[in-house]
Order: sequence, then C-alpha cells, then structure tokens
Amino acid sequence: MKGASIDKAVELIRSSVGPTVPEIALILGSGLGFFADANVEDPVTIAYSKIPGFPESTAPLHDGNLVVGKLRESPEPLVCCLQGRFHRYEGYSLDQIAMPVRILARWGVPTLVVTNAAGGIDESFNPGDLMLIDDHINFLGSNPLIGANVEEFGPRFPDMTYAYDPQLKEIALSAARAVNVPLNRGVYVAVSGPSFETPAEIRAFRVLGADAVGMSTVPEVIAARHAGMRVLGISCITNVAAGMSAEEISHEKVEAAATSARGSFSTLVSRILAICPTSQSDSG
Ligand code: HPA
Repeated sequence: MKGASIDKAVELIRSSVGPTVPEIALILGSGLGFFADANVEDPVTIAYSKIPGFPESTAPLHDGNLVVGKLRESPEPLVCCLQGRFHRYEGYSLDQIAMPVRILARWGVPTLVVTNAAGGIDESFNPGDLMLIDDHINFLGSNPLIGANVEEFGPRFPDMTYAYDPQLKEIALSAARAVNVPLNRGVYVAVSGPSFETPAEIRAFRVLGADAVGMSTVPEVIAARHAGMRVLGISCITNVAAGMSAEEISHEKVEAAATSARGSFSTLVSRILAICPTSQSDSG
C-alpha cells in the first residue's frame, strides 16, 4: 500500500478524533474485542468500512471498528483500540494485514500492544492463562516487508532483536504483579491457518522453541518495528495445542476460553495501559 492511501486514511481518522494522537494502540484478538466496549470512555468509534483502503474484517469474533478514547477511571493516556484484525487465512497478503499498523504509525502513535488467542504448547499452560510474548517465530512463509521498500515507512532491513520492547515487558510484568494476575512468558509461533495444527506440527514447534501458536500478530509486529513503533504482546491461551490432550480443538472452545479470561485480561491490560510511559514522560 502506498503512502498516499495511508495519508487519506489518517486524514479521515483525524477528522473524526481531532488533533490529539493516542499514546498507545491496542489490537484486540479473537474474543478480546470486548475490552474496548468495557474500558474506553466516551469513545469515538470508526467502522473499518469507513476508512479508505481498510480491508474488510471477515473473521468470526472480529467486529471491525477502531475505537478511540480515554480509559475508564484514568485521565491518561488516549488509546486507540482495533476491534478486529486481518489474517492470512482470510486471503489477505501480509502487506494488507500490516496496513492498519502503518496507518497508526503514520498517525504518530508510538506504542503498539498486540493481543491474540493462542494454543498453549508449553505443557504448564492452561486455557485462560495469559502469556507475555517474549519473542516470535515467523512460520507464515512470508513477510509483510517483501517488495519494494517504502523508505518513508522504514529501512529495507529492519532489526528484530528487540521486536518486543524490553522496557514494556518489564512494565507488563510489574503490572501483573500489582494486580495479582499470573503472567507467563514465552515464544509465539505464527502459522497461516485456518486449519489447526497436527500433533506432529506441535511437537516440531516445541523443538523449535515455541511456547504458544496462533494465526496472527507477527505481520503486525514486523510492520510496527519497521516503522519504529515499540511493541508489547500478550497472548490469551485458549486451549492446549493439538495432540496435548485427547480433546479436539474448535473455534467455539477458543471463543469460550477467551470469554472466560475476560476478567484477568481486562484487569491486566488496563493496568498496563495506565502505567505505560507516554511520549511526555519518556525521552525514548
Ligand atoms: N492454534 C492456532 N491458533 C490458535 C489456537 C491453536 O491451537 N488457539 C487459538 N488460536
């Protein structure tokens, strides 16, 4: 996607939200879109269909709204929630999947919090657990930055050593302690889906060093780092991965587990957003 279409999208968002740019954007994964409805005060809600160039959200449990406002009971910061994201399994290219992140970056949002539903590969994880994403493995077989580099977005060969920001991880861990929500840590492996994995694939991913598996997040994180945003990632473990129990995996079970984790997810993420450094408080 070219810079001009991104500028049009930013123009539309600015004309609805006003001149203040949010400090943090939050991408809400499957079953986690409720967070914006429950926690954002006096929201400005923009349907994705109104934003020029935005793909259409076809995934189940993905509403397709951008919700901007302040957090309930917290004067700062202004946050922008994306209720719904785009996935490879919907047929979108990784470049299209990354487009909302590029819009956020162009708008000037400095920090991105990505959330998702994921299958637990680590044997100590249970449905309903939360996992801080320490790092990722891109198993999508592609990259959102393939093609001519658009210099105005970022460099040709962006570094991924600190894909998940060390300072934001510390903030998330201390937020978890403060609100008494257990927070595991681990490596997220991204696959295209839409079929869930086979047990043999899960065994292979464990050998590769993955602790959780899902069908999203990685393209967005790569695009965000390319554009110089700082990233934090939280997975909601909705099931044990394929072959780790006798049970089959279904989207309905994923949805039910994400719903049952609402309380801890909401408590933790609200706290993280409230204590994240803002551009005023943080020199970089
Ligand atoms: N595999 C892939 N994606 C997922 C899973 C899973 O087990 N659970 C939730 N999203």
